[in-house]
Amino acid sequence: MSIRYNEKDQTITLLTRSAAYQMQIVPPGYLLHLYYGRRTEEDLSYLYLDHDCGFSPNPWERQDQRGWSLDTLPQEYAGSLGGDFRTPCLELSTDRGIRGADLRYAGHTVTAGKYALSGLPAAWAREGEAETLTVTLADAASGLQAELLYAVFEERDLICRALRLKNTGDQSIRLEKAASVCLDLPFGDWDWIHFSGRHTMERRPERRRLLEGLQGVGSLRGASGHQANPFVILCDREAGEEQGDCYGMMLLYSGSFLAQLEKDQMGAVRLTAGIQPELFSWRLEPGESFETPEALLCFSPEGLGGLSRRYHRFLRQNVCRGYWAERPRPVVLNSWEACYFDVDEERVLALARQAGDLGADVLVLDDGWFGDRRDDHRALGDWTPNPERFPHGLGWLARKVRELGSGFGLWLEPEMVSPDSALYRAHPDWALTVPGRPPTLGRNQLVLDLGREEVQNWIYDTVAGILRSADISYIKWDMNRELTDVYSRVLPPDRQGECVHRYYRGLYSLMERLCRDFPRVLFEGCAGGGGRFDAGILAYFPQIWTSDNTDPVARLGIQEGTGYGYPLSAMAAHVSASPNHQTGRSTPLGTRAMAAMTGAFGYELDPGKLTETERQEIRRQIARWRELESLLRTGELYRLSRPEDPFAAWQLVSTDGGESLLTVCMRAVESNPRPLWLRLRGLRPEGRYRIEWQERAGCLEELSELPEREYAGSALLYAGLTLPPLRGDYPAMQLLLQRTDDNE
Ligand code: GLA
Repeated sequence: MSIRYNEKDQTITLLTRSAAYQMQIVPPGYLLHLYYGRRTEEDLSYLYLDHDCGFSPNPWERQDQRGWSLDTLPQEYAGSLGGDFRTPCLELSTDRGIRGADLRYAGHTVTAGKYALSGLPAAWAREGEAETLTVTLADAASGLQAELLYAVFEERDLICRALRLKNTGDQSIRLEKAASVCLDLPFGDWDWIHFSGRHTMERRPERRRLLEGLQGVGSLRGASGHQANPFVILCDREAGEEQGDCYGMMLLYSGSFLAQLEKDQMGAVRLTAGIQPELFSWRLEPGESFETPEALLCFSPEGLGGLSRRYHRFLRQNVCRGYWAERPRPVVLNSWEACYFDVDEERVLALARQAGDLGADVLVLDDGWFGDRRDDHRALGDWTPNPERFPHGLGWLARKVRELGSGFGLWLEPEMVSPDSALYRAHPDWALTVPGRPPTLGRNQLVLDLGREEVQNWIYDTVAGILRSADISYIKWDMNRELTDVYSRVLPPDRQGECVHRYYRGLYSLMERLCRDFPRVLFEGCAGGGGRFDAGILAYFPQIWTSDNTDPVARLGIQEGTGYGYPLSAMAAHVSASPNHQTGRSTPLGTRAMAAMTGAFGYELDPGKLTETERQEIRRQIARWRELESLLRTGELYRLSRPEDPFAAWQLVSTDGGESLLTVCMRAVESNPRPLWLRLRGLRPEGRYRIEWQERAGCLEELSELPEREYAGSALLYAGLTLPPLRGDYPAMQLLLQRTDDNE
């Protein structure tokens, strides 16, 4: 039983392997949050003393207790205008002008399994893996009932949270804010980490001291965005890679979001996160319900690395679903950086010949194959092959590609429309535009109103038609601009605030239908690279194009940042040409492959322009990736370097500790460098390990190999391993350690 109710103390405790989470029902019906941290089963209400700090109001029912205030006590889910002046979770107004919510406990239930959300991405549980707590709170004045949903995954140290709101009264309620999660931590000195960036430079970790007042991160873009990510970490100031208490909050949501942290007058911290309230509202008529996106709360007493590994496992095994979730992913050869828009049958077949010859699994035809798509000024929406470039159609092309030895994949950007397209000419009202105002363009295109059912159905029919017309095994689903002119032609004026969230409900419903009806197709998410890299997308598509930046050295940083929350199997990364098209930097082919070796690997170049020696090297890289595939996709990740180090070093260790891959890539080199000393992690101290193979790329001199001897796990963990200094143009090295003793 991971959920325990103590009737005497009126506490409810959620227990996971390493953590306890406790709340308490107190008169006159408030739900306080007592604790979240390392596991203890004690009633922790003793932590909170009555303390009149002045100007913090007390409830009417506690008129003789001036020191008892919602403003200073930790809340499980904070209403508004009820005496707590900190950031509220819920804001509303009714048609009778009532604002705010005074939430009082009305009951709770504990059930086996995980709660379900309708129409939103959500984690899933195998039998016996999760238990659900539903706590009902009610606001008498507005008639709003809030069900706080908690699914406890004991073994995973994960608690999923969401909120179900019901209008049980007789007034219409306008929701203005409905956070998915609230976490009040009463004591401590904290840092917080978020992941910021820009197009081609996504998800760089920013670690800051948590200061008094309000701070946070969010997106107003109608997408999670390149600039921010719906994932934040709160950690001890001393927390490092492998030590210290860390809390993670990750949203399964791809639209605009807001995550806020507030350190209050008492030094307590409130973390709230959910749909971005700016530009959001939702009308709830009597009898109607609304569910918020899900949030994944995770606690790690083993530092940031422990937090990452917990999220990786959970996302891989409890968020990703379907045929591809746990299967080896195909090695891809993508046409984009090889041809850009200049694609036709001949060029695609030439690439397919190369793909077959190199041993890639899928040849992906990227942008430029449909309608009059010569450049990015036109044709989004006209999803039929260009008859001059592809006179034989997609079915024929896919067959030919298969005959040449690989599967066939296709790029689509179904959420968009170019003003210069037959689709826009036929349905100008399907685009998000504000009547009477010229719309804003992004990459010369407009966004379709996915909140409309007819638009969803049209996209479904179009994509399903394409998938039925040809033997297509992979779809890259792109989204190359964000949402402006947020106005739907089919919503009444007082529902326009629902437009962005309805867009995402529409998108998720489309993704759900397509994944259900085409389970063997591998869908990869993309939004100008990693502009929508979030757990919401991963609930449908198990991998996402990490960044349009294919420079290995720059992307290493992006992969490192992404890896704080998201598993390697989710990160599609390719080897591209040198000099790199985004940065102009030249790097060795071997380094490019070592950097791109995530669980979703591939190439993004024209192999016809390479020498036979380079093609031979690619064949070897693909063979090596296949050998390592399971370790790369399911191994436990250990970061051995910090983003500011001149090298990036990371280790993947199989779950049984039997093998480990160490990769080191130099970001900068020095003259007369010191040897690189690394303490390895994740190995079994009692085990013995042998270097199975080692590989170098881009080194100035022939370095002597590390001795082919056995090492005690304890030696590698405690004393470390000394690597020869790496000099050259972005040199890199990889080595595989294999456990040699019996590890039963
Ligand atoms: C986006 C993607 C690229 C490529 C182009 C095609 O930018 O991230 O990989 O598919 O679109 O237009």
